[in-house]
Amino acid sequence: MRRARIAVLASGGGSNLQAVLDYLAQLGESRSADVVLVATDRAQIGALDRAARQNIPAVITRSRLAPDAPPLAEILAHHAPDVVALAGYLQLIPASVTRQFHGRMLNVHPAPLPDFGGRGMYGARVHRAVIAAHATQSGPTVHFVDDQYDHGAEIAHWPVPVFPGDDDRALADRVLRAEHLLYPPIVHAVAAGEVVLGSDGRLTTPFLKSPLPMFDPAADDATLRGVLDNARR
Ligand code: GRF
Repeated sequence: MRRARIAVLASGGGSNLQAVLDYLAQLGESRSADVVLVATDRAQIGALDRAARQNIPAVITRSRLAPDAPPLAEILAHHAPDVVALAGYLQLIPASVTRQFHGRMLNVHPAPLPDFGGRGMYGARVHRAVIAAHATQSGPTVHFVDDQYDHGAEIAHWPVPVFPGDDDRALADRVLRAEHLLYPPIVHAVAAGEVVLGSDGRLTTPFLKSPLPMFDPAADDATLRGVLDNARR
C-alpha cells in the first residue's frame, strides 16, 4: 500500500519533528506514512539538522526572515504532501492553504485552547500565561488547522498538572514530554485516514474514545503510552 506523505513545518528546535520521526521508525514496515519534507521559516534551526540527519528534504519558506524563499503554497504544491503537521511553526498559514488541506493539516499547542492560544501566544509566553492565571492544569492540545492562530477542531488534549512553584521552564519541560507522546500517534492516525474532519468542522471519526486522564509526570513513557492507548478509539 502507498504510504501517506507527511510534511512537517517547524520554526525551532524540532523536538516534535524528532518525536514523529522516531515514532515512524519504531513502527517500521507497518507504518502508514513517511515524513517527506521539512519546511521552516528560518535558517539555522535544529529542525533542519534533524531533517539532514535523516536525509529528508528540507526547505525554507518565504517569511520576513527569508523574503527571497518560495512561498509555502508553492513548496507544498511541489512536494505534494497528503498531510501537513505543524510542529512549532510560527507563521500564520494562508487561508488558501488551510482550505486546500482541510482535515489534513494539524498542529500541537502546548496549553489548553482557546484559553491560552492565539496570536503571539507561543514559546515561554504560553507557559507564563498559564502560571499567571493560577491554572492548576495545562497540557498539549492537538487540533486541525484553520486560517486563525490556534483555532480549528480539537483532536486531543492531555491535561498536565501545574505545580506550585513551577516556572515556565519547568512547566514547558513537563508539557513537552506529553507532546512527544501525544503528537506522533495523532499525526500518524491522521495520515492513515483514521481521524476524519467533517465539512462542518467537527470530527466525524475521532482519535479518542474517552478524555485523557491527568498526565502523571512520575510515570515512565511505557506506562504513559499505555494510558494513551486505553483512551484511543
Ligand atoms: C512546542 O511546545 C509546541 O507545542 C509548540 O512549539 C513548540 C515546538 O517545540 N507549537 P519543538 O520545536 O518541536 O521542540
